[in-house]
Amino acid sequence: MAVSLASATMNAQTVRVSTDKTDLVMKVSPKGRLYQVYLGDKLNNAADYDRITWNTYAASDGAVSTRGHEVCAASGNEDYFEPAVAITHADGNMTTYLRYKGVETKAVDGGTETIITLQDDKYPDTVKLHYVAYNKENVIKAWSEISHNEKSPVTLWRYSSTMLYFNAPKYYLTSYHSDWAKEGQPETVQLTAGKKIIDTKLGTRAAMHTEPFFELGLNEPAKENEGNVVLGTIGWTGNFRFTFEVDNVGGLRVIPAINPYASDYKLRAGETFTTPEFIFTTSSTGTSQASRNLHDWARRYQVNMGMGDRMTLLNNWENTGFDFNQKSLAELMKDAKDLGVDMFLLDDGWFANKYPRKDDHAGLGDWEVTHSKLPDGIPGLVRDAKAAGVKFGIWVEPEMVNPKSELFEKHPDWVIQQPNRDTYYYRNQLVLDISNPKVQDYVFGVVDRIMTENPEVAYFKWDCNSPITNIYSPYHKGNQGNFYIDHVRGIYKVMSRIKAKYPKLPMMLCSGGGGRMDYEALKYFTEFWCSDDTDPYERLYIQWSLSKFFPAKTMGSHVTNWNKNTSLKFRTDVCSSCKLGFDIDLKPLKGTDDYKFVQEAVANWTRLKPVILDGDQYRLVSPYESAHSALNYVSKDKAHAVLFAYNLHPRYKEPLTRVCLQGLDPNRQYTVTEINLMPNTQSAFDYNGQQFSGDYLMKVGLEVFDQKDGTSHVFELK
Ligand code: GLA
Repeated sequence: MAVSLASATMNAQTVRVSTDKTDLVMKVSPKGRLYQVYLGDKLNNAADYDRITWNTYAASDGAVSTRGHEVCAASGNEDYFEPAVAITHADGNMTTYLRYKGVETKAVDGGTETIITLQDDKYPDTVKLHYVAYNKENVIKAWSEISHNEKSPVTLWRYSSTMLYFNAPKYYLTSYHSDWAKEGQPETVQLTAGKKIIDTKLGTRAAMHTEPFFELGLNEPAKENEGNVVLGTIGWTGNFRFTFEVDNVGGLRVIPAINPYASDYKLRAGETFTTPEFIFTTSSTGTSQASRNLHDWARRYQVNMGMGDRMTLLNNWENTGFDFNQKSLAELMKDAKDLGVDMFLLDDGWFANKYPRKDDHAGLGDWEVTHSKLPDGIPGLVRDAKAAGVKFGIWVEPEMVNPKSELFEKHPDWVIQQPNRDTYYYRNQLVLDISNPKVQDYVFGVVDRIMTENPEVAYFKWDCNSPITNIYSPYHKGNQGNFYIDHVRGIYKVMSRIKAKYPKLPMMLCSGGGGRMDYEALKYFTEFWCSDDTDPYERLYIQWSLSKFFPAKTMGSHVTNWNKNTSLKFRTDVCSSCKLGFDIDLKPLKGTDDYKFVQEAVANWTRLKPVILDGDQYRLVSPYESAHSALNYVSKDKAHAVLFAYNLHPRYKEPLTRVCLQGLDPNRQYTVTEINLMPNTQSAFDYNGQQFSGDYLMKVGLEVFDQKDGTSHVFELK
């Protein structure tokens, strides 16, 4: 049986999705079904693609065996495991058998898009599988489109972005759980027979408890610099679900998807259901390289203004909370200038008049400045910022409403709430029903009005503090199954309108800290707020985890007074390894060494932006595995590098090991200089100012740690 199978597969039509490093190979079976036959390191000989056969067990179509690794396994056929697509047809039949119809490829920015068309032979239902392979970055992005021409609507109850199979003796999943001020907490488990599901059903602040990304170690738990690793992430700012299922023969299927929870989706004839993009990269040398793949890809092809500059800023949330006025803000703008940052960012508390936003109980929805607080309005703030010599940015939370607001009084039908049950409030607020096009217009209008009236507003921080509670859409009435999904699509419609009208407007994605961080939202946002937790110790862990999936350029990190017992230098050095900002009262610091230090640190960071934000990142020492942490960045031309070294909680007399840098040019000489030193202090390292070859720095390394709790050292290499 295996022999006839081999000849069948050799002659089978083959579809390859390839980057410079990875091959995903699919073949059409004699009965027209499409199977994945290979996913792994790129094969060097073209002829070998023809040779790959299905495993005998994976042969399919009933004729040879019971099932296979079907590329888009659908419900109700001979596949015994979790399907990628499930449709209840207009006549109530719940089975779908997809047959291969054809493939087309086209060049897209950075790579090649492959589109495979599959069709059910008994129902006019079509699934198109899209894959974009980014050759150089070794990233593949996959999504699907489902459509039909049946007489009446069908119901979709599984709609995965893609379906991938892996074959290894063992699988280790690292997923990241989360909470407010506790984002990106890794947990590694071995996947055993059966399913492991990572999902969320929070609606808006969807990633509050689960991050939309994972690391998969094949054969062994993912390691930084060795082993076969897959990094995957879904671009969906709503309910998502990753299913990992190990089958009876030890194969692993990975199904990234919108969470079908409470989302049986009615699709009308002629409509297309487009799934979110699933983005993945593989590496045979550990996570470090996989992360750099994602960083390069994200900057070049996905993130809004990914190759552009980023501004340093002074925010006022941690400093003033809601307690400010026009005069005190004008002072803060001068502080921002004196500190040396590019922008002042006004946070929550500037809006609403009938129910002024004095705290988080009222005002959301009424995006008019509180006249008593800010008599000259936003024009006055822009004016004061200009006078101070900084740009002006502003916080909004336009998807939300407080019941104490004029918006709520006027449009209760715009709000997600139960018509016949008690209301549950999260942070005293409710979520607007953005599946409703009128609400989309309103939300777009929040930003559009500010920009139209104040074209010099230079930045938005877009917050989203509440998950969806009291799930009921007044707009969707009898069709609640479509709501969760259409709500998120409504948000994207708004965001894409903003981007189309204001293509140069940088925006920070925030969600009660880092409740939203995904690559679909980042098409519209330039950066995201990693966490409200700015305690430098905790931040080192959070940033370490998030850096696996996102480039430093997208990761907002602000120096605050969280854990203010730590030195300002330590706090600043921690933030300097991401996108630096401040959210701290600078007044008491004026005239102190700390103040001189931060001014210099801002200048250093601004100078080093090309290395930190656009260079290659190498994570060297993990805070999860040590009392220390270190990472270095290297510019693309390898002429310039920055090394960050942190001491968290070293043990008494703990031996200090040298740190070997990575990514340097071995043949180049680098002068190593400690920067970000406190005024009037000198580097404690006697190699300071000396030259070393890249080879030495990468093989022998440098002593960069010390025994003191909460200290840090930053080195520039040129
Ligand atoms: C969220 C954000 C904070 C701040 C507050 C304002 O919690 O994460 O940074 O903007 O909202 O209410």
